[in-house]
Amino acid sequence: MSQQPKVLIFDSGVGGLSVYKEIEARLPQLDYYYLFDNAAYPYGELERQTLIERVNQLVSLMVEKHKIDLVVIACNTASTIVLPSLRSRLMTPVVGVVPAIKPASNLANKAVGLIATPATVKREYTQELIKDFSQNKPVELLGVTRLVDIAEEKLRGHPVSLKEMSQLLAPIANKIDVAVLGCTHFPLIKEEIQTVLGEKVLLVDSGEAIARRVQELLGINKNSNIEGKKDIYSSATPWQEDALNIALAKLGFNPVRPFHLGP
Ligand code: DGL
Repeated sequence: MSQQPKVLIFDSGVGGLSVYKEIEARLPQLDYYYLFDNAAYPYGELERQTLIERVNQLVSLMVEKHKIDLVVIACNTASTIVLPSLRSRLMTPVVGVVPAIKPASNLANKAVGLIATPATVKREYTQELIKDFSQNKPVELLGVTRLVDIAEEKLRGHPVSLKEMSQLLAPIANKIDVAVLGCTHFPLIKEEIQTVLGEKVLLVDSGEAIARRVQELLGINKNSNIEGKKDIYSSATPWQEDALNIALAKLGFNPVRPFHLGP
């Protein structure tokens, strides 16, 4: 069997799996390495410099150890600040995920809602995106960590409370006609977000665009005859590990393995 490109997908938790699904649908033959920094979760509440240092260290170590060909930072909170330092440090191409403000603004008639982490909505990068691409449409910002937790819980089989979701999304409900899912965890609770905001609100995320970019950079076509390997690593013992491994197995992954910084 010929050697397939090795792709590393990185996030603070399970959110990057939404990006993984999009890439895997296009390129099932790749060897997938997924690393999540749950020791520092949630990234949306982490101090800026700590986040930059952790992502640089963890990703560099992983790239070196597994001879990774392409890195996907499948996290808006990290991508909006770590990409320049990571790219200058690595020879490997790095694809990031940032909120899809531009396509959302093109689709909106009324206003755009950006649902993301508290950190992402505050970042200069996000403010610049809004300034450059919001096409004079108002952008309502909503940064909520609890929604990230709900996605983590749902993946582990917990029921999602629509009542709680309604309360969390209340500040933007009825004000917008397009919502940007500006956190990779949110496609995992897309159905619930849609139910709460109503069928008329269009939900936009960056997953498909990222998958297209990965395919473009690798310059390869889909090959369904080869199934690549799917390994997943975490920086701390995952919460409800058994339930998590059941969900991961359905996505083709081996059980989570530890990956720590330092010797
Ligand atoms: N999945 C992440 C994002 O896209 C971050 C979630 C978190 O750890 O706060 O922003």
